[in-house]
Amino acid sequence: MSWRAPQGGGPRIPGFDSTDNVFSGGSAGGPPLLSLIIAALAVGLVGLFLAIAFGGSIGQGTAAVPQPTRPPAVLPTAPPAVLPTAAPAATTAPAQPTTAPSGGAAGIPTEPLGPALVSGTGTPIEIGTDAALLIFNKDRVTVPNGPVTLTFKNLATAVQHNWVLVQGGDEVASAVSDVAQAQVRVTRNAAGAVPPADTPGLLVASPMLDPGEEVTFTFQPPGPGTYEFICTFPGHYVAGMKGVLVVE
Ligand code: CU
Repeated sequence: MSWRAPQGGGPRIPGFDSTDNVFSGGSAGGPPLLSLIIAALAVGLVGLFLAIAFGGSIGQGTAAVPQPTRPPAVLPTAPPAVLPTAAPAATTAPAQPTTAPSGGAAGIPTEPLGPALVSGTGTPIEIGTDAALLIFNKDRVTVPNGPVTLTFKNLATAVQHNWVLVQGGDEVASAVSDVAQAQVRVTRNAAGAVPPADTPGLLVASPMLDPGEEVTFTFQPPGPGTYEFICTFPGHYVAGMKGVLVVE
């Protein structure tokens, strides 16, 4: 009969029963532990390499992503900022050409002006200037009552002249001449010495003509009477450049 005491039942002798277990476990567990440690270290090293590799690639990847996204973000914002500023410049540009034609390059009148200016035609007359002296070639012109179409010619060789009709005599003519010469300070040009259309006593005024130029326009005198015409270029009226228009 063979009775075999259970291993966990009776008192156990560590030196005997456990010897196989201890030695077998110890001899068998030694090599696996070392291999496990080496394997773990190897896995750890591989993991480090992978982490470094992926970390660098991810860092480069994440850094490369913002670069392409930044340029498009800046480009769309820059064009709109420039376009709105260009649009106002285009709107202000048309305003300059509209003001330029109305008064010439420096606000100098280029067309006849004054309250007596009318359209159509009237009694034709022609008045010129002396070639050298500051006088008109006619000191007195008589017309019937009604519209008058004047052709004024600057026959001077080197001096600008114009033709201005006033309602009155020397006092009104002198005042109108003063207003006209004040325009020289406004226009910074002697050619701007033309009385504005609303000048008291002014009936009609031609623009300042260069030597050899002429202008034709029609005006309606207020009625029968004697009206003085003058040149309002600075100093010319004072020098005696004047005449009279008699309306019968
Ligand atoms: Cu003159």
